[in-house]
Amino acid sequence: MGFGSDDGPIGVFRVGDAFWAIEDTCTHGRASMSEGELDGTWVVCPFHGGCVDVTTGEPTAGPITVPAKTYRTKVIDGGVYVEIPSSPRTA
Ligand code: FES
Repeated sequence: MGFGSDDGPIGVFRVGDAFWAIEDTCTHGRASMSEGELDGTWVVCPFHGGCVDVTTGEPTAGPITVPAKTYRTKVIDGGVYVEIPSSPRTA
């Protein structure tokens, strides 16, 4: 699944009992990675078939060459939470 955030769209993936979050927009193009198929820990981009390991954000198959940003997740009382680092804001 994917959702919007102040840091941009984020995709959340379940692998076994663990949840992993990466930036949802493919670093190769404009595809939503959360709409891709999950194969083990790799998500396959729905546009050109590039792959990213959702546990590390590292590209595992071309044409993706740029790593995806990763986010920490926590499960609290059955809910999945994604930690989004705060960024400095200017007035
Ligand atoms: S847009 Fe994802 S591999 Fe091209």
